[in-house]
Amino acid sequence: MKPLIQVQNYSFTYMGTSRPAARNVNLEIGEGEIVILAGPSGCGKSTVLKSLNGLIPHLYSGSREGTVIVDGHDVAETQVSEVAKKVGFVFQNPENQIFMFSVERDVAFALENLGFPRDEIRRRVDWALDLMGIQRLARQAPHELSDGQRQRVAIAGVLAMTPKVLILDEPTSLLDPLTARELVLLVKRLHDELGITVLVVEHRLDLLAGIASRIIVMDRGTVAMDGSPREVLARKEALTIGVGVPTVTRLYGLLTDHGLNLGQAPLRMEELAEAVNRLVP
Ligand SMILES: Nc1ncnc2c1ncn2[C@@H]1O[C@H](COP(=O)(O)OP(=O)(O)OP(=O)(O)O)[C@@H](O)[C@H]1O
Ligand SMILES: [Mg+2]
Repeated sequence: MKPLIQVQNYSFTYMGTSRPAARNVNLEIGEGEIVILAGPSGCGKSTVLKSLNGLIPHLYSGSREGTVIVDGHDVAETQVSEVAKKVGFVFQNPENQIFMFSVERDVAFALENLGFPRDEIRRRVDWALDLMGIQRLARQAPHELSDGQRQRVAIAGVLAMTPKVLILDEPTSLLDPLTARELVLLVKRLHDELGITVLVVEHRLDLLAGIASRIIVMDRGTVAMDGSPREVLARKEALTIGVGVPTVTRLYGLLTDHGLNLGQAPLRMEELAEAVNRLVP
């Protein structure tokens, strides 16, 4: 798999602080992967994301070591507007990302700033609204929308730039469980249909583990675990670091601790039920 994101021996300390927020981080993400970045609050997840889209070091100053490369370009040496064409970043609170008076103007915002021709903007905005299923909201004002709808507008805005990587920082934090589930299915569909690489910071691992190819867990500024969701979540460390280990994985842990041989760790309740069922004569 071709690496799309390469973070090498990377450390960053925000100006005015003494402890590095990212500490000797090494990670590599291949084209077409769906990767979850997890770990307790303050462990440095958003700092890593901001280093991938260029907000660090172009907007936040501090001291830096190592390199962050996206699609062959060193992010620190590349203009933020250039990085934005490759990396679509959706903030935790989409209100921080929505500026315009109508949904369609908002989705067009970044394209207009980059000086795309008018008909190209129209085409891309229609495409992105359609993809997100919000064509009917085009003329509405963003402040009239629900959190879930605003989340979709923010994603449409970055998709209109046709980025190679979609980065989502805690996209479900404002959403109810059903809307959150819909968002996860939508992300999966975008990945399948567009071949887009996805990196998502998320605490609700029960929702996302099933669609991810990998989970990277950070702890105190550095990468503590990196592997397939099945493998990483089943490790005892996942509990001690403070990752939101899904109920199904906890249950599996309890049952295997009691001596049941259930085979590989499950990601869905159905899988666990089947494994238990196989033990019943
Ligand atoms: N702009 C900033 N200036 C100074 N320190 C900061 C800044 N942003 C973050 N930090 C510090 O860097 C560390 C890592 O923060 P970061 O936001 O990357 O954590 P996180 O893993 O995203 O946490 P959460 O899950 O709560 O969003 C924390 O100690 C935080 O206080
Ligand atoms: Mg964060």
